[in-house]
Amino acid sequence: MTKPVLVVGSLNMDMVVRAPRHPQVGETIFGTFFNTYPGGKGANQAVAIARLGVAVTMIGKVGSDAFGSELVRIASDEGINTDWISHEPNQTSGIALITVSENGQNTIVVVPGANAYLTASDLDSAHSAFEEAALVVLQLESPLETVLHAAELAQRIKIPVLLNPAPAQTLPLELLQQVDILIPNQHELLQISGQSEMDSAIETLLRLGVKQLLITLGEEGVILASVNQRLLIPAFKVTAIDTVAAGDAFVGALAVALTRGLSLKKAAQFANAAAAISVTRPGAQPSLPTQIEVRKFLKEHLH
Ligand code: ATP
Ligand code: RIB
Repeated sequence: MTKPVLVVGSLNMDMVVRAPRHPQVGETIFGTFFNTYPGGKGANQAVAIARLGVAVTMIGKVGSDAFGSELVRIASDEGINTDWISHEPNQTSGIALITVSENGQNTIVVVPGANAYLTASDLDSAHSAFEEAALVVLQLESPLETVLHAAELAQRIKIPVLLNPAPAQTLPLELLQQVDILIPNQHELLQISGQSEMDSAIETLLRLGVKQLLITLGEEGVILASVNQRLLIPAFKVTAIDTVAAGDAFVGALAVALTRGLSLKKAAQFANAAAAISVTRPGAQPSLPTQIEVRKFLKEHLH
């Protein structure tokens, strides 16, 4: 049996409204729809992996509220090993306020709540989860020192580390150097590198010691960049209605494909397919496809 992927990260309850457009500052507009969906970049990536048929363990924190119990139950129902997701006393669960406009674009405000209480010592307690993992997947909705500790633990026992540096923030060099594959979107790439255009941003990060970059470019696809390579893998043509969690679908599917031994190029194509399906559906976790759906999509879209 394939070893599980370990996801260290956030769980949020997403409060999603749809509106014809995003309001201006100081403006009130009418929306057309409201719903709550399970989300959080960590949980979304874990669900993406589980639906694609690979075992996944998650380390994270929820609050001591009703959302917290619901988020853990949903994760468990998806088949995720939730043994290392705990309830933080006296804290609310993470939430995200999301506005999706008619053209499918989104803005998100995240209040981390219990996610901010995931500590390095929580990871030490879950050492056995690191030891049995095939690879570790990280994002930046958990405290930076916890993310760094996760990368260090994984590197110490020689497990590959994938970091999706979202939401964007300045990263310590030691973190960048302990990551095997960094998967930013274009905005995150520029912010992390401190550069204003893509080529110099890629050069900067590679010079700082990032081994492999996969830069997601929305409807354009993804660029694979390393010292010896620059390669665009184009996205699949679909009609996007809600791009929330496109990046999470991509990262989860990439982890699955790499665990199964696919080349980086093939893995990126598989991830493009999973992410393309996700943008045609509303919500974060509800939009994430199964293995059967991705296989069917690839059959229909690859010639
Ligand atoms: P989000 O924050 O909306 O979850 P992101 O900004 O992290 O996404 P993007 O670069 O927008 O990430 O998208 C990730 C991947 O999803 C892309 O590399 C691509 O494979 C797929 N994707 C996104 N938008 C589209 C689209 N309109 N059509 C097809 N594929 C898309
Ligand atoms: O990447 C999408 C996720 O970002 C949403 O589910 C929301 O919770 C925010 O964390």
